[in-house]
Amino acid sequence: MDRMRPPVLVTRRLPQEALDRVEARCDMTLYDGEGAMARDQLLTEVAGKAGAITLLTDRVDDEFLDAAGPQLKIVANYAVGFDNIDVDACTRHGVLASNTPEVLTETTADTAFALMMAAARRIAEGDRFLRSGAPWIWGPLMMLGQDVHHATLGIVGFGRIGQALARRARGFAMRVLYHDMYRPPAEVEQELGAEYRDLEDLLRESDFVSLHANLTPQTRHLINAGRLAMMRRIRARAGHSPRPARVRERRAHPASGVSDGADPPGDGEPGGRQPVRRTRGQAPADPAQPGGLGTEDLKRVSLAGPRRLRWRGRG
Ligand SMILES: NC(=O)c1ccc[n+]([C@@H]2O[C@H](COP(=O)([O-])OP(=O)(O)OC[C@H]3O[C@@H](n4cnc5c(N)ncnc54)[C@H](O)[C@@H]3O)[C@@H](O)[C@H]2O)c1
Repeated sequence: MDRMRPPVLVTRRLPQEALDRVEARCDMTLYDGEGAMARDQLLTEVAGKAGAITLLTDRVDDEFLDAAGPQLKIVANYAVGFDNIDVDACTRHGVLASNTPEVLTETTADTAFALMMAAARRIAEGDRFLRSGAPWIWGPLMMLGQDVHHATLGIVGFGRIGQALARRARGFAMRVLYHDMYRPPAEVEQELGAEYRDLEDLLRESDFVSLHANLTPQTRHLINAGRLAMMRRIRARAGHSPRPARVRERRAHPASGVSDGADPPGDGEPGGRQPVRRTRGQAPADPAQPGGLGTEDLKRVSLAGPRRLRWRGRG
């Protein structure tokens, strides 16, 4: 092996700047196909390499490390998550495993906040509805969503991304609860205005739950049907949930923010059958206006289920 230009496998096309850096120092083998490398090809191509730059789709285990051979020194994972890497196996083979913490902390927190806003304010549904071209006229119950401001956000996994999400939540005057295996220093809790809860209390108290724990055997399917049922209202989540539970919950809670994007519009949704609404008088839909629908009233209306919509507000 040329020690000056060690052979390195890159399992997927990366941004050119990164490839240029690898190529400047190493004898690079780049897999340039669409999607992940087939397992057989991965095991063949890694043979004899001194390093491998891998993605979450590449399983790095004893089989991979044996196929690579004893000269392999490092597996550099192009992700902060490393659930594709058997770290114990790397230790046994004397191979260094590295990841990329911090690179996408703020970006991922932005995305998590965007997903919460989109679910709460029904952005994707509204977009689908407008693009459907169905005729519509605005009505007070049309596309009612959930308020994000002043709501309670539960963050599971209070590491880099979880804390970055908490900083965003402060701008929306949200109450922030968190759950983690480790408690951060008291100054961090104080700065972010975040209160610790055990997982079940967090689920019971939160309006929104966002998951930011790394994926491990302990966190896989952390949110299951039983834990979903603990949530006082089903709203927005991201990941760590088995799909059948998501779909079941979507059906059980038609007003929820849980959607796999494939559900047809329900009764009362734009594009679905509209319920006959009986109201006791008229009220402006702006909760801030005197005599208007209060936030709690809006929540009751939107959670009542489309067939049972009734006006139960003040006088
Ligand atoms: N989808 C994306 O684009 C994207 C981008 C970046 C990161 N991520 C994911 O986000 C995860 C978190 O990234 P990070 O930089 O914040 O990592 P981090 O290590 O700083 O935070 C993870 C936190 O989860 C906690 N945790 C682990 N197991 C737990 C458990 N059983 N119960 C409660 N808490 C637990 C850890 O103690 C830690 O504080 C990554 O592992 C990765 O999978 C996704």
